[in-house]
Amino acid sequence: MIAEKSKTQDILALDALHNSGLWNPSIVFTHGDGVKIYDADGNEYIDCLAGIAVASVGHNNAHLTQAIAEQAKRLIICSQAHGSDVRAKFYEKLFAMIPASMGLSRIFMANSGSEANEAALKWARVATGRPKFVSAKRGFSGRTMGALAITWEKKYREPFEPLKYENDFIKYNSIEELEQYITDETAAVFLEPIQGEGGMYEADQEFLTAARELTKERGALLIIDEIQSGVGRSGKFLATEHYGIRPDMVTLAKGLGGGVPVGALLMTEEVALKMPKGGHGTTFGGNALASAAALAVLEEIEAKQLIQNAAEVGAYFKAQLEAMNSPKVREVRGKGLMIGLEMKEKVAPYIDALKDKGVITINAGATVIRFVPPLIFSKADVDKVVAALTEVLKEDLSA
Ligand SMILES: Cc1ncc(COP(=O)(O)O)c(C=O)c1O
Repeated sequence: MIAEKSKTQDILALDALHNSGLWNPSIVFTHGDGVKIYDADGNEYIDCLAGIAVASVGHNNAHLTQAIAEQAKRLIICSQAHGSDVRAKFYEKLFAMIPASMGLSRIFMANSGSEANEAALKWARVATGRPKFVSAKRGFSGRTMGALAITWEKKYREPFEPLKYENDFIKYNSIEELEQYITDETAAVFLEPIQGEGGMYEADQEFLTAARELTKERGALLIIDEIQSGVGRSGKFLATEHYGIRPDMVTLAKGLGGGVPVGALLMTEEVALKMPKGGHGTTFGGNALASAAALAVLEEIEAKQLIQNAAEVGAYFKAQLEAMNSPKVREVRGKGLMIGLEMKEKVAPYIDALKDKGVITINAGATVIRFVPPLIFSKADVDKVVAALTEVLKEDLSA
């Protein structure tokens, strides 16, 4: 699809001279519009990646870009040590979108998912006075040293050991292992309601209910990581709402800023007020520009009914993927617009072939293709993606 000597090749050559060496990009994105994203040679793609579940309201969203531009002219930086008109409005809107029955009323704003999780770990330690954590096998919490300690994948963790937080990894959805590992040393149990990086696995109702009951009984906290599943993606504002439980803390990031870096730790009042003054902080977290972006994202989600759209189009997407009935597909999983298609073989060549057909996706582990498009995704978009996938699955791309 890309011409022999193209803008893409020139840009990638420059990139290769200076990048960190962590990635080896083969495509250059220059702009987007709605669910479409374009490369440097002008090729158009349907974006089922959305910056990994980030571009919640779509690319070049008029309300979001206008809010960012207007706020940039008024005030960009205002730390949480000072009040901010736009941050206060964001708080009001955010907590109006979360059921009051969940008991979350306090927020610490950060700049990424990992930072929100770091804050949660510190809050849990200080609120309970206990040293240890429990998290799940296949779970992903981020790449900073604390978040890494509760992240399952060995190749992310092992080169950086020793990690300072002591953690036990339990089998996801195992109530017996919750029983076994939550002790009077446990500060918190840290869980994703839908495991994203780990392969798009949903928590069982009984498991999350047990996690809530056992933590409460044994004096530990329950922290739910909604960094990927939150902000409407699952068909509820928080995926936790599907389960009717009341966690002590919830972390958000990704979709919250629509692409502008925003992370957030939501807490009950009881937990929040246990942190001593000066016990945590951030220079950029909650800045006025990020707050304006997050407020605009929430307004857009509400005005365009994007949570309902995620539920409806997501259910349709899942049904269409299942209806493909491909012998190469093991299972389709997920909720709302957070969907994983598990194949019986490695997915990397299929993801490349989809890109050549104009659909951008990403893996979630070696055998799962992940679909986390903008929440504005339509049934017509689904049909195009499923048609491309149907073609690609006919090819023999097994390694
Ligand atoms: C569930 C979950 N937690 C934490 C993170 C880390 O977020 P960030 O990459 O913004 O630090 C991610 C990122 O993929 C995630 O999916």
